[in-house]
Amino acid sequence: MNFELTEEQQSVKKMVRKFVDKEIIPNIQEWDRQQHFEPNILKRLAELQLMGVCIPEEYGGAGMDYNTLAIVCEELERGDTAYRTAVSVHTGLNSMTIFQWGNEEQKQKYLVPQAKGDKVGAFGLTEPNAGSDVAAMNSTAVRDGDHYVLNGSKTWISLCDVADHFLIFAKTDHDVPHKGITAFIVERTFAGVETKAIKGKLGIRAGNTGEVFLTDVKVPVANRLGEEGEGFKIAMSALDNGRFTVAAGAVGLIGASLEASLKYCHERKTFGKEIGKHQLVQQMIAKMSANLEISRLLVFKAGTLKNAGKRNTKETSLAKWIACDAAFDAANDAVQIHGAYGYSDEYPVERFLRNSKAPVIYEGTREIHTVMQGEYALGYREDKQLRNQLHAWPYEGATVTNS
Ligand code: CAA
Repeated sequence: MNFELTEEQQSVKKMVRKFVDKEIIPNIQEWDRQQHFEPNILKRLAELQLMGVCIPEEYGGAGMDYNTLAIVCEELERGDTAYRTAVSVHTGLNSMTIFQWGNEEQKQKYLVPQAKGDKVGAFGLTEPNAGSDVAAMNSTAVRDGDHYVLNGSKTWISLCDVADHFLIFAKTDHDVPHKGITAFIVERTFAGVETKAIKGKLGIRAGNTGEVFLTDVKVPVANRLGEEGEGFKIAMSALDNGRFTVAAGAVGLIGASLEASLKYCHERKTFGKEIGKHQLVQQMIAKMSANLEISRLLVFKAGTLKNAGKRNTKETSLAKWIACDAAFDAANDAVQIHGAYGYSDEYPVERFLRNSKAPVIYEGTREIHTVMQGEYALGYREDKQLRNQLHAWPYEGATVTNS
């Protein structure tokens, strides 16, 4: 066990922090007010090699380890949840899933440009009537010769207006809920694909989120990811990576809430002393501080299992649940510490509070993760071996293991 960041991790952390301080923090209040997603940030992330952090170099990525991806997400969310969400969806949910499940042709065609940041990927799982209950989805894919015809709609899709490629899940067999789902790589330019942004969200207002409509979309069989019926497992394995990045981002939000609160504690005086000297304020600071450590350790534990190529569904779910709840509490306490000033966007903490809510809901609600952890503890849930292999890091010459 080593709790020190490597030199490379330290320098990535410093680089992302500098980028966030210079290019996100000065603009984010206005982008949030205008509900504006700034596409140039994705271009800049690509220039900094942050659109494929732990995709191997041979596929256009930076070839770094999973904990470095966590560090990137932590630092990005210190700036705003919107851009960490972009990385979660593009890298965690889409690119890493193609890396894990795609054939060589799919990797060359879709993964390489995505990992370089030339193309953007999104993830289409949730439907108006199928959120937590994934297997209840209604979208259909009907085989017709050398292609499938997809129909249906997806909602709450991050990067819907920005993405070039979507990973879409649809039913190829309605009689078997889990085993009737299949995954497809769908290009925005395929006829019958339309998207529409959702405005008026509580938080992550600087992010692009919306609906994807599929009307008689012809998708080549070559764009099927995995086998027919493997879609549920592919979606869940994608979420193992997506949830990891969400948890890491939540660590960044706890840190940002703490950073803003510490500054304010030293500036603001009541009853003749800095508010940091009041014990009830110290209690909130102490809780943030402890949760920052706890959440980061849980994230790094999940990342270490990923680096070893080991199944990590349980550990990732735990990190996601605990870190996102803690980020919500930290942002809430940060607003409380700022008093009435915390209620206005003159200070960033009201945005932190609004942003902290979505991660408690998306990529598995708090309730789904609580139930999963209860089931693991009781022995009702067990992580089985996967058909495909998880890639151990470092990739070159790495031994691949299943657990
Ligand atoms: N990897 C591979 N296989 C997995 C897996 C994983 N992580 N998790 C489950 N499976 C397999 C199981 O082994 C099982 O296989 P067998 O049939 O061979 O035994 C099969 O999949 C079914 O698994 P479960 O029995 O666990 O399925 P379930 O119906 O009990 O559902 C659930 C489990 C935990 C409730 C799941 O449906 C779930 O996680 N729901 C939440 C969905 C979610 O997170 N949605 C997020 C949408 S995306 C998003 O929010 C992105 C965004 O925009 C930011």
